[in-house]
Amino acid sequence: MRASVLVTRASFADIVDSLRDHFDVSDNADDTVWSQPELIARLQGKSGAITHGSDRIDATLLDACPELRAVCNVGVGYNNVDVDACTRRGVLVTNTPGVLTDTTADFGFALMMATARRIAESEHFVRRGEWQKTGRYDMFVGSDIHHATLGILGMGRIGQAIAKRGAFGFDMRVIYHNRSRLPADIEAASRAQYVDKDTLLREADHLIVVVPYSASSHHAIGARELSRMKRTATLTNIARGGVVDDAALAEALRNQTIAAAGLDVFEGEPEIHPELLTVPNIVLTPHIGSASVATRRAMALLAAGNLSAVFGYGKFAGQPPSPVNPQVLSHRASAS
Ligand code: DGY
Repeated sequence: MRASVLVTRASFADIVDSLRDHFDVSDNADDTVWSQPELIARLQGKSGAITHGSDRIDATLLDACPELRAVCNVGVGYNNVDVDACTRRGVLVTNTPGVLTDTTADFGFALMMATARRIAESEHFVRRGEWQKTGRYDMFVGSDIHHATLGILGMGRIGQAIAKRGAFGFDMRVIYHNRSRLPADIEAASRAQYVDKDTLLREADHLIVVVPYSASSHHAIGARELSRMKRTATLTNIARGGVVDDAALAEALRNQTIAAAGLDVFEGEPEIHPELLTVPNIVLTPHIGSASVATRRAMALLAAGNLSAVFGYGKFAGQPPSPVNPQVLSHRASAS
């Protein structure tokens, strides 16, 4: 019998259609935002799901959907999924690492540059027709990226790719802080120097946050951390909402504790802390770090490949390429 699967958000039609070779597929081509009860209702009788960051896969949902065997999340981050709850129920979780590294690093760099050089503020100024009324030599003066100190919080694949862009493209001094220090050859490849968190905060001209969200990274940048940064510094968050305390950041921007911020992710997104919408020294984007056509396709394909593999189809049959809780696979193998 064919397994039934759900694709929770709109995706590339040809990739969704390719799943129909093996599965009974329900999808969401209209991209309706489902409430949690609706998501649970739509998952009834489904053995697998391709999920997205806006879906909350928690213990309550899993208990209500006992036939679910695989949750294939589109995204390298999977903080929307309670992985322990999945593991306890034998549900495999997969993500899409690797395929989005460079695209997300490009975006982080672009957002940092837009923030430092005040591109959003000045663009609004031009659109409002104000350039014709005033044009001073010091309008929208920002801070340089080249030769400045780039601070990176979280030095996984994306952090390393950002470090390389800074060091080799813009002659930046690169410092980083991470849960554990990287091996010397990896540090050398990205010309990055490990420092403690306080040094990172104190010395960075541009601080970029790339650390995954977890209980231990919750509000890793809050009022205390912001107060340790340079008044001229910028902060860019492309990691996850909740890693930065958005209320504390709004206050720091209003008080000019730091110069500016670029945010692609928000606590409670798509809701945005109302004060972040009122400060001028900020660039806001709607969680589009990995949003190039090629990369979004690669992510969708990898998620589909993971799902197919769980059920024994496709070129990875039986061996999903990016399991988050591979112990589920070994447990299944030893049970069969
Ligand atoms: C990721 O891959 O985690 C991106 O943030 C998209 O969700």
